[in-house]
Amino acid sequence: MSYDLIVIGTGPGGYVCAIRAAQLGLKVAVVEKRKTHGGTCLNIGCIPSKALLQASEKFAEAEHELAGFGVLVDKPRLDLPAMMKHKDETVTANVNGVAFLFKKNKIDAFHGHATITAPGEVLVKAEDGAAQTLTAKNIVVATGSDFAALPGVEIDEKIIVSSTGALALAEVPPRLLIVGAGVIGLELGSVWGRLGSKVVVVEFLDRILPGLDGETAKQFQRILQKQGFEFHLGHKVGKIERLASGLSVSIEPAAGGAASTLEADVALIAIGRRPVAEGLGLESLGVALDRGRILVDDRFATTVPGIYAIGDVVRGPMLAHKAQEEGVAVAEIIAGQHGHVNYEAIPSVVYTMPEIATVGATEEELKAKGVAYKVGKFPFTANGRARAMRAAEGFVKILADAASDRVLGVHIIGAGAGELIAEAVVLMEFGGSAEDLARTCHAHPTLSEAVKEAALAVDKRAIHI
Ligand code: FAD
Ligand code: NAI
Repeated sequence: MSYDLIVIGTGPGGYVCAIRAAQLGLKVAVVEKRKTHGGTCLNIGCIPSKALLQASEKFAEAEHELAGFGVLVDKPRLDLPAMMKHKDETVTANVNGVAFLFKKNKIDAFHGHATITAPGEVLVKAEDGAAQTLTAKNIVVATGSDFAALPGVEIDEKIIVSSTGALALAEVPPRLLIVGAGVIGLELGSVWGRLGSKVVVVEFLDRILPGLDGETAKQFQRILQKQGFEFHLGHKVGKIERLASGLSVSIEPAAGGAASTLEADVALIAIGRRPVAEGLGLESLGVALDRGRILVDDRFATTVPGIYAIGDVVRGPMLAHKAQEEGVAVAEIIAGQHGHVNYEAIPSVVYTMPEIATVGATEEELKAKGVAYKVGKFPFTANGRARAMRAAEGFVKILADAASDRVLGVHIIGAGAGELIAEAVVLMEFGGSAEDLARTCHAHPTLSEAVKEAALAVDKRAIHI
């Protein structure tokens, strides 16, 4: 069977690429080794984690927050199987949605492991051993990423788990040890902490969420500690031993020093993700890799003509919306258009309570580059809607170029931050200034007024503080 485009992998990068290419009139096939479409994000990533974050937030709200609003309820009881059912139903609805979109756009979907046997030739091996060869003018590799292993530690997905096991625990572990204070550790730690686990996080660096604006990360760490998180920063994990019941984990200071021991019922290893570039036949074709990721140029072309790559398997942040943007761009490029991704304006959200949302440069990055900047900051304690919601933790911080006033970065910690960041992304996409934002009317009373006030604060003229 012959196509204009074969996409390998139907995660957010691959499935969006296939749909955009079909919209542009290309004859498209996708190959996916999983039984369902949607990749890491829909099956074992963004979607199930957000379903559990939402559900566990309701639980925590009933336990700790409702009384403050004058709503008295008995101590909530957890029906974990029902919570997991909510998560599973959310996943099923989303993955079925992708299958529907493939049909609607007349995209042929094949299930099996894909190998590129020659430029323009893809061998698909189904689980039952059946094999068939597809041909195409162009191939897009969108094979994503998998969890990074901790050397010497075997993941059984029951007691020592990756994010996949942590999304499906059968019981709430009384003591949950997390290796890595990154996004996965803090999101999934929040889920189980809200449901009753004592959460202890061991992090190699001397801070949480590396890459996040330093001031925002510090405030967030304090909030998490208030929520019951215990952090061992600047520590690395040595041996993890299985005991008759639970685990014994030896940790030692990253800078060297005496080791100590922690005990836990479940350990979550969340130390980053690695690209999936193996098993595709890339080496024999001469497709170059760079530190495990497929090397691409700014048109997503690999070093072999006709083979492109996008998403987690190439450079850049491992985020679903970044993969989607690249999927659209590469489909347009293959169709002869001018697809493009603006990497300066890719937001990033941590879906904890409060949420953290950021776009653009951090203060640390601007200092390192020697860029002169102004800071406008506004706390949610001074926002009427946030007070009415009893969600006044956090702030909006806007960094603008000292000379031109152009917004270079926005960092928000607070309720609804993941939605609030969208206006900052649009502003930055248009090259807007802090004054543009400050002169834009925002509805009252909304959390978004804090964004306007932070923009006013860049010019030291915030009204409500
Ligand atoms: P993937 O989604 O990994 O999809 C790749 C697909 O390719 C897979 O389905 C795989 O089976 C298939 N495949 C691989 N090799 C082959 C082969 N040889 N033949 C056929 N098929 C193959 N990002 C966010 O932006 N927001 C979030 O809230 C968020 N939450 C996350 C939570 C967790 C727990 C995890 C683990 C990740 C989360 N991410 C989140 C990251 C996000 O899931 C990834 O960035 C995104 O899925 C990358 O998309 P992709 O299309 O590049 O690859
Ligand atoms: P991460 O890169 O965010 O964090 C890993 C953490 O582990 C880092 O702080 C690192 O210093 C630490 N670490 C590494 N090795 C260690 C060791 N041996 N001992 C102790 N600490 C160690 O990776 P994470 O959390 O696994 O997430 C993977 C990817 O998935 C991220 O890149 C993220 O982009 C994506 N993701 C995005 C989400 C979102 O957008 N809301 C949610 C979940 C994941």
